[in-house]
Amino acid sequence: MTETSFTPRVFSGIQPSGNLHLGNYLGAVKRFVDWQAKDVETVYCMVDLHAITVWQNPADLTKSTRELCAGFIASGIDPEQSILINQSQVPEHAQLAWIFNCVARMGWMQRMTQWKDKAGKNTQNASLGLFAYPALMAADILVYHATHVPVGEDQKQHLELTRDIAAKFNNDYGVDFFPMTEPVIEGAATRVMSLRDGTKKMSKSDPSDASRINMTDDADAIAKKIRKAKTDPEALPSEAEGLKERPEARNLIEIFAALNEQSVDQVLADVGGKQFSEFKPMMAELAVEKLAPIGMEMSRLMNHQDEIDKILTRGAERARAITAPILKQTYEIVGMVPPVSL
Ligand code: TRP
Repeated sequence: MTETSFTPRVFSGIQPSGNLHLGNYLGAVKRFVDWQAKDVETVYCMVDLHAITVWQNPADLTKSTRELCAGFIASGIDPEQSILINQSQVPEHAQLAWIFNCVARMGWMQRMTQWKDKAGKNTQNASLGLFAYPALMAADILVYHATHVPVGEDQKQHLELTRDIAAKFNNDYGVDFFPMTEPVIEGAATRVMSLRDGTKKMSKSDPSDASRINMTDDADAIAKKIRKAKTDPEALPSEAEGLKERPEARNLIEIFAALNEQSVDQVLADVGGKQFSEFKPMMAELAVEKLAPIGMEMSRLMNHQDEIDKILTRGAERARAITAPILKQTYEIVGMVPPVSL
């Protein structure tokens, strides 16, 4: 099967399981916005069904889902141009996932590093959903016949599995039905690290709030976290080479570059030789300029939940125009007796 026989369509998802932070923004959402500017169809999803593979407090899940939707919109995802959905509102995701549960093999799932990491030592106590997580992810993608999936490096293995599932389905049923999806892996430059420890990823689960910039932080909070970010005593180097072995310096420069849409080399050409005491206020100003408006728009939207809910309802309707026919054809291929009108 040639990959070009499918119309290009981009799909990606983020779990609504906590605060949206700078790492999600630079590593994912901002890139989703870039894809939107290209001439392809884009579908972006809040994956609530994935979130509940580990325990989620119901009220928090509701809030996080709406907040993630607000974050997408405030960052520049246009819900008319892209299809913006909450996974559970498009039932074909879960329906196709069941078919894929029957295509994927236990051995494939067992090899997934995310499963090994998240299940920990006591695998017997992990949810069955956590084990089947990658089959649902494959369904998210393939129920749109999506061809391109922008994700972080940590999701690469899941995308390879998505291709394995598509290939096995096509092969088992003798069809050319599901496309071989292309992973579009984010570069290391958009991997945002903790502001307290440049060797750890910026994470919603870090107990220190100072380790991350939340997209809902106001200007003061953003500036303060940058002022307090861990650094080393040296001046900034003039070339990228000089950032080796200086994880905190490197992280701040990379964040600066990403926010300012410059390369690391361009940034260092300007700030090389400066002390952090001089660089940090520049960085704080830039971060506030780029991020504070997003946070403000998010809180405005969070005060208009009906607006968010309408956008998601409309997104689901548009999504189902794509997913329902693909699921129907899948059922036909598998041999399920279709309903008839009475
Ligand atoms: N597993 C992804 C993550 O944790 C989220 C996700 C679910 C996803 N379904 C997807 C990403 C489909 C891309 C495509 O980051």
